Amino acid sequence: MDTGVKPEYDKIIRYSMTLNYNPIICAIDTTDIDAASVLIEQLRGSIGAIKLGLEFFTANGANGVRLLEHHQIPVFLDLKFHDIPNTVAKAIKATAGINTFMMTVHTSGGRAMMQAAIDASMEVATLTGKARPLVIGVTVLTSLDQADLHMIGIKENLNDEVARLADLAQSCRLDGVVCSPYEITNLRKHCGQDFTLVVPGIRPEGSAQDDQKRTLTPAEAMKKGATYLVIGRPLTQTQNPRDTAQTILNSLK
Ligand code: C5P
Repeated sequence: MDTGVKPEYDKIIRYSMTLNYNPIICAIDTTDIDAASVLIEQLRGSIGAIKLGLEFFTANGANGVRLLEHHQIPVFLDLKFHDIPNTVAKAIKATAGINTFMMTVHTSGGRAMMQAAIDASMEVATLTGKARPLVIGVTVLTSLDQADLHMIGIKENLNDEVARLADLAQSCRLDGVVCSPYEITNLRKHCGQDFTLVVPGIRPEGSAQDDQKRTLTPAEAMKKGATYLVIGRPLTQTQNPRDTAQTILNSLK
């Protein structure tokens, strides 16, 4: 059936629908599977997905991810792959066993690596019989500033470097990039409406800034054009995660 939507974006839209258009992704930044399980149960129905990163994966591996499968919540595997194309492709192919809807690679891994990542994500779809997992690029880590870029030999202005890497990611068929709330407007302009923007650095009104320097509220980030909001401590360090998530969700309506 011709839906009038480009095939790749059709898949993104279908995935958004499986998330029931709830753009909140809770960053489960713990090594403790039991703590992760309790939190996921508390947040059930109030968030669209969870993010598991290096901390969780290094401690628990693929089996740890499988142990959370019974919660039936979409998993964003944020391992920021960065290696030669063959190794990244094989790592992505190996995610077929752990059912993830989205994952990350470093755009500085270059064109061949990103293309190999997308090809591998298609192989995952063939192996699992499910929709292709989204492959999202990391441009410049938000922990780096202009001086840090200089030190690693990048002379470009930081914002231009982010836009340049996002353009490269898009030309390699990546589905989107991770970006700070303050990069959304520029990247929407560069990469269009169909590019997925995964946005951390989100702080609901009145919550602690923690170590995040440049934040926006969930509603502000969505209004600027975020696709998914990655929210950690405001959800995980609160007395009542479910109420907090519901309040955030209501603020988006
Ligand atoms: O607790 P908080 O909401 O600050 O957590 C944000 C999550 O997003 C963490 O898992 C953090 O590692 C991740 N992240 C980020 N900034 C980036 C990329 C990822 O805060 N640029």
